[in-house]
Amino acid sequence: MKGDGSECLCLILLLLHQTPVSRPERFQVLGPDSPVVAVAGKDVVLPCYLKPNISAEDMSVEWTRTHSTDDLVHLYREKKIRNENQNPSYRGRTALFPEELKRGNVSLRLSRVRGSDDGEYKCFIQCPTWYDDALVHVRVRAVGTEPVISMEGHRGGGIGLLCESKGWHPVPELTWLDSEGHSLSAEDTETRRDSERFFTVRRRVTVQESNTNRFTCRVLQQQLKQEKQTEIHIPAEMFHNAQSWRVACVMLLTLAIFVLIGCAVLTYRHVKLLREKESISKEKEVENKCRRGEYENACKFAVDVTLDPDTAHPKLILSEDGKQVRHGDTPQDLPDTPKRVESVPSVLGKEGFSSGRFYYEVQVGEKTAWALGVAKESINRKKYTPPRPSNGYWILWLKNGNKYWAGASPSIPLPLREKPRTVGVYVDYERGQVSFYNVEARSHIYSFIGYTFTEKLYPYMNPSTNENDRNSAPLIISPVRLTEFSISV
Ligand SMILES: *[C@@H]1O[C@H](CO)[C@@H](O)[C@H](O)[C@H]1NC(C)=O
Ligand SMILES: *[C@@H]1O[C@H](CO)[C@@H](O)[C@H](O)[C@H]1NC(C)=O
Repeated sequence: MKGDGSECLCLILLLLHQTPVSRPERFQVLGPDSPVVAVAGKDVVLPCYLKPNISAEDMSVEWTRTHSTDDLVHLYREKKIRNENQNPSYRGRTALFPEELKRGNVSLRLSRVRGSDDGEYKCFIQCPTWYDDALVHVRVRAVGTEPVISMEGHRGGGIGLLCESKGWHPVPELTWLDSEGHSLSAEDTETRRDSERFFTVRRRVTVQESNTNRFTCRVLQQQLKQEKQTEIHIPAEMFHNAQSWRVACVMLLTLAIFVLIGCAVLTYRHVKLLREKESISKEKEVENKCRRGEYENACKFAVDVTLDPDTAHPKLILSEDGKQVRHGDTPQDLPDTPKRVESVPSVLGKEGFSSGRFYYEVQVGEKTAWALGVAKESINRKKYTPPRPSNGYWILWLKNGNKYWAGASPSIPLPLREKPRTVGVYVDYERGQVSFYNVEARSHIYSFIGYTFTEKLYPYMNPSTNENDRNSAPLIISPVRLTEFSISV
């Protein structure tokens, strides 16, 4: 009897133990059979689903690129979107279909397709007991602009023409044709990629006088079955002038060399003078940085920020031009107006923004503590509230010289590889986005995304305390030239 009892217990234990295993959550992950065609600028759905169609709500859904190191496209885990380490080029452009998850549909929606989205993706699904993945190929299709032809003057007894067409994906073929449709021998096609990885093609040709003097530049994308062309007619007189032009050209060239030497000397002196004065060259520098930088998109919305002395905490000292702020240790005797921030030693910009996009840069240098970003008009200026979006702050801060934080709820530690000396702040009001960049490294630091702004947003700065002089340097607003893109208030 004794023996029977223990056997029975064993059997029960075995059964209990096996119960979860007897219904394992086994599933297959399936993607589309053929590549997904995505049209540039539009949205596309990357299909992926579970078979059988069990719920994926409690699973981890990870979309990645397969041939890239910075490869996270979208991550859903523990019922939350976890895109902190997302590749910046996908920032704000990815989403799952929350309603579809319970049907095992983990398809990804990718918005505003770019050239760089072309390629292979992996859809990886995991639950505690099982995982599987599927590959999805995306083919980006973009039809470019009408070709533009420009005349480059006389060349080799004929006339030099240049044709250019932008915004294609994949690369199209560019041919020069005469009026009968025969292709002309031309230079090699130059191919470039723009910031969104679409292709620009350019090709030069030298044309001779013909019966019609009509020439066509044709851009053809076979896979898209798309063709765009532009024709140019060159008046015969222009060819006739070619001979006399050549003589004139030699003379002009000689003259040009002298002028150039003169110019170079003058420019050198001029630049030296400017350097001494400094200010203009600094603006140029910023402008160039904007043009070349990876974050040119943010950078070109640069606005000229000036701090508002009426909002400054009594312990803060602003420079006369309102471009610098430092901590003064002792409070000054200033009127306690409604505008003045009395809670934390901080200050706001003069202008607030209630639409569009704007960008500004702050030099933080070697400071060991600071906070900056944007704040909405109605923040509690008299009583401390934690600096997070629900209280009207979208800011980043540094503590103890190397601890960077994003003021989300809860705050997110940011282990930065490089210490930013200048921080760029970019706001896209309509998209509810606030992003921070390391200007020198041209890298992205952190983005708040998906907020709905309803009030004016003001640049916000806090130089923190002086920490026995270790942190007494001011925060300095970088001079940024106002561009045509900037937003007026
Ligand atoms: C799951 O699939 C079955 C048949 O394959 C179908 O009848 C059922 O409606 C599906 N469930 C959902 C939630 O789509
Ligand atoms: C998954 O959901 C998306 C969005 O609603 C839909 O377009 C797609 O057809 C769904 N896929 C499957 C397999 O149900």
